[in-house]
Amino acid sequence: MACRRPIAWFSLACALWAAAPAQADPPVPRTSDLVLTRIKAADTGQLAVSEEDGRFLRFLVVSKGAKRALEIGGASGYSAIWIGLGLRETGGRLVTIEFDPARARDAEANVRAAGLSDVVTVVAGDAFAAIPRLPGTFDFVFLDAWKRDYQRFFELVFPRLDVGGFFVAHNVVNKASEMGDFLETLRSHPRLRSAIVSPSGEGVSVSLKR
Ligand SMILES: C[S@@+](CC[C@H](N)C(=O)[O-])C[C@H]1O[C@@H](n2cnc3c(N)ncnc32)[C@H](O)[C@@H]1O
Repeated sequence: MACRRPIAWFSLACALWAAAPAQADPPVPRTSDLVLTRIKAADTGQLAVSEEDGRFLRFLVVSKGAKRALEIGGASGYSAIWIGLGLRETGGRLVTIEFDPARARDAEANVRAAGLSDVVTVVAGDAFAAIPRLPGTFDFVFLDAWKRDYQRFFELVFPRLDVGGFFVAHNVVNKASEMGDFLETLRSHPRLRSAIVSPSGEGVSVSLKR
């Protein structure tokens, strides 16, 4: 938007636009907000998704009306809390799987502190072993484990993804070189319609199962 014309009303509109908050989505409940801030402050390894990507995940969950969500690679629960906030609105549930036992314990404590224990279940262990033990199908899958495993996780989960469901994957821009096979699948799979967005430079793919 170019704010150059010296017309009073237009200048006022420009001023209001410039003063508008950067985020247009609804505010985060205070308890969850405090937990999200604390996780970020402690995240020295920068495992968690960016705040922008977290907000985008919540938006996707709400706009899809997702009810049965799965996250692969939960770390300390940052993205699980964003997804959980969306599921709080849709009445859905999330299972998040984390390999590292200490991180899984952290995630559980953080989910509880965020007031989302009734929405988010943390499973500790290897997702390759845990997913076959989970019941039913999923309508929203968020993949954020080790990047070289993306294609194998896709093959494991795709048969359990509902038609019309979303398969969402993180780091498809900044770590694209580690997941060439998966990105080729997104490009060429006949039952996928995909888009890639990059709210904070890491890249999020969103694939609809047809
Ligand atoms: C980038 S971090 C996830 C960050 C998290 N999604 C967030 O935004 O808060 C990747 C996590 O995946 C976990 N992971 C990697 N391979 C896994 C597997 N096979 N099963 C379960 N977790 C795995 C790692 O232990 C690590 O904590």
